[in-house]
Amino acid sequence: MWLFRRVAKYGRPPVMLAYRFLVLPLGLFKTYKSPSQTDEPAGPPPSPATISIDASNIIGEINPFIYGGFIEFIGNCIEGIWDENNQNVPLIHGGLRQDVLEKIRGLNISVIRWPGGCFSDIYRWKDGIGPRGDRKPGRNKFWHWFGPKIGHRIDNHFGMDEFMLFIGELDTEPYVNINYGSGTPEEARQWVEYANGDESTEFGSFRAKNGHPKPYNVKIWGIANEIYGFHEEGYSTAKDYAHGYIKFAKAMRTVDPSIKLVAVGTDFSYRNWNRILLGIAGEYIDYLSLHIYTPLRFIDRISNNVKDYYRVIAGAPEFERRIKWVEASIVEVMGEDRKIPIALDEWGAWWNFRQLFESYATLRDGIFAASVFEVFHRNVNAVEMANYAQIVNVIPLIVTNEADSYHNPIYLAFQIFSKYSEPYAVASDVTCDTRTTPKWGVISEGELPYLGCSVTINKVRDKLVIFGINRHHAHNLPTAVALTNFKPNSTAIVFELNGPSHSAYNSFDNKEIVKITEKSFNSASSEFKYTFPAHSLTSIVLQKEK
Ligand code: AHR
Repeated sequence: MWLFRRVAKYGRPPVMLAYRFLVLPLGLFKTYKSPSQTDEPAGPPPSPATISIDASNIIGEINPFIYGGFIEFIGNCIEGIWDENNQNVPLIHGGLRQDVLEKIRGLNISVIRWPGGCFSDIYRWKDGIGPRGDRKPGRNKFWHWFGPKIGHRIDNHFGMDEFMLFIGELDTEPYVNINYGSGTPEEARQWVEYANGDESTEFGSFRAKNGHPKPYNVKIWGIANEIYGFHEEGYSTAKDYAHGYIKFAKAMRTVDPSIKLVAVGTDFSYRNWNRILLGIAGEYIDYLSLHIYTPLRFIDRISNNVKDYYRVIAGAPEFERRIKWVEASIVEVMGEDRKIPIALDEWGAWWNFRQLFESYATLRDGIFAASVFEVFHRNVNAVEMANYAQIVNVIPLIVTNEADSYHNPIYLAFQIFSKYSEPYAVASDVTCDTRTTPKWGVISEGELPYLGCSVTINKVRDKLVIFGINRHHAHNLPTAVALTNFKPNSTAIVFELNGPSHSAYNSFDNKEIVKITEKSFNSASSEFKYTFPAHSLTSIVLQKEK
């Protein structure tokens, strides 16, 4: 509160300057890229684990939007997608990198949020439309504080129309976040009209003039980003935001009443925010957003040692704690009948600002992401959208340079879940040993089970997929699986994400050190044994016996 008042009084720049010059330099040291270390003995193997599954015990339907992504004007995220002067890789529509599109297609991403992030609250959408030669270049008004690697100049050549070309190539749903912080309800209304109005409307006709006669029919719109925080342009109290949000929502819906609106929510870091916001504006809200990055300790040292391996993965249970808190805060205000789903529209493991421009992720980060998907599957009735932050070059799934690209272990974990999950989540009971993990940044102290598990089933109930995550850094985990109400064929297909060590990683020189291997398993039955290899994610695809 003190900080909030100081910022309100003296403005944002002094705080940002202090942050930039005092805090960030500490966090910008290359402290997290140490080589693989055997710094902790493997120790005794954990006791064998068990998984019990009753295939008729359905938790709920999984919304495909949980396999979503996010892109923002920060670092080289957008340049990794749209790079019109690049002559080293094939481009389509005059700028979209074909190699990157291919990789994104491999993820079955269901929804993509753009243009931010913090950037969205300062973005003027009209600067990014019309003939590209006429668009005004300028500095990145949000991220330029952090230097050119994080906030370089923007040419505005990837605007609304280019975003929609990108979306069209991927057959995914667009999610546009408007500039509440710097804009007006009228500006937002015009943006919706540009996207969804037909040619007879003023802004729909501009779109047609720009070469896109057919309305884009953008269904999901976010009003502001992290507007509770002093770092955000237009930061606000919950009460002011709630009233402002209603004005924006009403204006935007005059163009298209069918659009779905995402309001800025948060977790217990701002205890009363959701209660106040939902109390005033609840009836206008279709999704409540939530951002979770763990551990958010930018000044810490982190290495590839075993301690940090577990500390990073322990972020996943923290996600569940926060999701449950937000779910309860929604029910408290709206009651059980008026459900507002959570849009976890930014998530990831973020411990250093260098991750915004220096892409480096190990198998550990893939196991963390898999563990978060396990949490989403368990909480399908609360989380209906989740957008990994971000798709390209910024804490990324995909890494690019001028001429090449590769995917990292987070991408592969995402791919296993988005490709092999069936639409219904099934409850499972797991028994296994745990490891105590310490408090770290926003992560509370806890017990991390070595085995993570989530189970999905198809509509006709003849295909069941078990996702098993062996989080142990060194030991395989023999596991007894017991199934009721589902007798599988003895042969199952298995997809396994793994690498030579928990700190293995991919790079331009070696893109397949961490990879997915397809295997066949021939001993499935109502009760079977499976050994999950150390530091791996496995999906076992079981077909029901005829
Ligand atoms: O993903 C980077 C930034 O993290 C986003 O702009 C912001 O919303 C979040 O704090």
